[in-house]
Amino acid sequence: MNIEIYNNTREIADAFASIMQKTAKQNENKAVHIALSGGSTPKAIFRELTKKYGSELCNNRFHFWWGDDRCVAPDHDDSNYKWARELWLQPIGIPEENIHRVTGENKPEDEALSYSEKIKKLLPKANGLPVFDIMLLGLGEDGHTASIFPHQIGYITSPEIAVVASHPESGQKRISLTGPLINNSKNIIFLATGVKKAAKVKEVIIDKNETLPASHIKAENGQLTWWLDEASSKLLKNL
Ligand code: 6PG
Repeated sequence: MNIEIYNNTREIADAFASIMQKTAKQNENKAVHIALSGGSTPKAIFRELTKKYGSELCNNRFHFWWGDDRCVAPDHDDSNYKWARELWLQPIGIPEENIHRVTGENKPEDEALSYSEKIKKLLPKANGLPVFDIMLLGLGEDGHTASIFPHQIGYITSPEIAVVASHPESGQKRISLTGPLINNSKNIIFLATGVKKAAKVKEVIIDKNETLPASHIKAENGQLTWWLDEASSKLLKNL
């Protein structure tokens, strides 16, 4: 596991852009499958990527997916797809056919199946599972990642590709990729910034608290890198 500390969203955007470009170079002429995280943290990164790189990152070999999304309409403020598309993918001209959103308006059980089928159909495989080239994850203050929450920690070992998850407080239904699928990715990036994440970053990285879904994310087919800032990494000693 690698840990990288960044000073601001611009540096994180630069790091994401360079991983995308490096992966595209390594996969000459092949599709590059990128799963994006949701929540608020990535929004500033998307804005920065649009501002600084614009259509430089509009390579029609990039395919965008979501590690999880809420079961809401695509124009709903809770939709992770809505923000990624509005702040980044659409302004830089990513072709619609390269954007594979969770169809949040579908019946959750049907959508979990159809998203799984689409992933199985379009992604290459390794270890019997589809492989994402880049898997961007966030860390919840309760130690969840994607939409695998502590009360549904079983999804960390689910044999499914995508499942119907629910938010522990609101009950909001989400579609989430499962632990084995996430762990089969080539490049897992855990993006956790801000002082509110410091406690859980320590519980996952140092304490290895097994009750937290994020503690079970391992790079089983590539590498896992934590992207932190001063505030979120303040409880990690001897960094
Ligand atoms: C979601 C996410 C989720 C998110 C974390 C962190 O749909 O909410 O994908 O896993 O990444 O909850 O969210 P913040 O960036 O808002 O803290």
